[in-house]
Amino acid sequence: MTTDGEIATADLFARYVAPTYGRLPVQPQRGRGVELWDEGGRRFLDFGAGVAVSSLGHAHPALLDVFRGQPGDLVHCSNLYQPRGQGLLARALVEDVVGLPGKCFFSNSGTEANEGLIKLARRFGEVVPAAGGAPRREIISFTNSFHGRTTGGMAATGQDKIRDGFGPLMEGFTHLPFNDVDALRAAVSDRSVAILLEPVQGEGGIHLATGEFLSAAAAVCRERDLLLLFDEIQCGVGRCGEMCGWHAIGDTRGIVPDAISWAKGLGGGFPLGAFWIKDRPAGEGRLPDLLGPGSHGSTYGGSPLASAVGLAVLDTVRREGLCENAAALGRTVLEAARGWGHPLLSEVRGLGLMIGFEYDEAALAEVPEFVRSGRPASLFMVDAFAAAGLLTVPAGARVVRWLPPLVAGEGDVAEALEITRNVLDGLA
Ligand SMILES: Cc1ncc(COP(=O)(O)O)c(C=O)c1O
Repeated sequence: MTTDGEIATADLFARYVAPTYGRLPVQPQRGRGVELWDEGGRRFLDFGAGVAVSSLGHAHPALLDVFRGQPGDLVHCSNLYQPRGQGLLARALVEDVVGLPGKCFFSNSGTEANEGLIKLARRFGEVVPAAGGAPRREIISFTNSFHGRTTGGMAATGQDKIRDGFGPLMEGFTHLPFNDVDALRAAVSDRSVAILLEPVQGEGGIHLATGEFLSAAAAVCRERDLLLLFDEIQCGVGRCGEMCGWHAIGDTRGIVPDAISWAKGLGGGFPLGAFWIKDRPAGEGRLPDLLGPGSHGSTYGGSPLASAVGLAVLDTVRREGLCENAAALGRTVLEAARGWGHPLLSEVRGLGLMIGFEYDEAALAEVPEFVRSGRPASLFMVDAFAAAGLLTVPAGARVVRWLPPLVAGEGDVAEALEITRNVLDGLA
């Protein structure tokens, strides 16, 4: 109980909320830009941004305008009709984000967007079967990938800890080592229908695809008529310094996937997912038409409110130069943190504002607090940073992610670097 007799928020969680997350004892109440305050009025610098979601930061005027205005007209209407905002958002994604002819479908989350990609691949494997006429059903994805928590998303994901205990999983997925061109070329068979990858793996610990690997994947897809599917749910919409995350990897502008999934930053905090399907042949028809009437759907997907939010996010990312901002701040962070040469850090890597700090467990083993905690390095460090006023996100056992709002400024980055350096020095 709190002093006024109300049940404390932590107790509400302990008693009533399913324990699916390892939660920090932080109770956020209010946010502005990159700052967040908890129930006790304590200020944090929010470099997690709801795990790469609050791309415009907290309480951005462009989003407040949408939330104040659009519900007065229409919050929701069925996909039995043609809400104009959905069409406008689809046009913005096709023409401004991807810049190539195609069509979009709207969902409410990332894992649902990926389910759509999986269904698209299954249909494609039916209409463009193997030489003997059997449908092609195998989707190739990669170790350390994360594609969501639905049964399809889990099956696509290349991490045992996400999948274990939920079998039998959906059939038809093969996981190969990431960035291994030879393994990819060797694994493609008559049964293969698609390659699904995150250009920058997020949950797996910030691993960048190499340009060579992306080019090889695109070449294999061309040669064997496979679909190239990019999961840009975490790395897209400006996070890596480009609207299309893979464009930031360098010399990859010529690579064109067949479909792309988005969520997270596209909604800036409002549940919104989407996928784009390239306009290209597929059997007798065109690829976007494989998901014809009745083949796929979502009650809420692309509602008037969600679409207005998505349009405001895309417009703001362009108008405020947030891709350029992310690219420049990312360079600053990498240069500064690598320059420390800190003994507790084994590597700092990333692209734009998607940055991973990998900790050296052997060096941490000399730190009594760490040993006493009995926790993985990533969780121990995330706790230590939160205690110092900086919110970050763990990825795997050793990596701490920075995924700040794209509206972050040089001052925010300088403050986060200073907190990080002080925490590290305190421990070392
Ligand atoms: C690359 C990637 N794909 C899919 C997902 C699943 O998205 P959601 O949690 O919105 O279902 C995530 C979420 O972290 C992600 O990072």
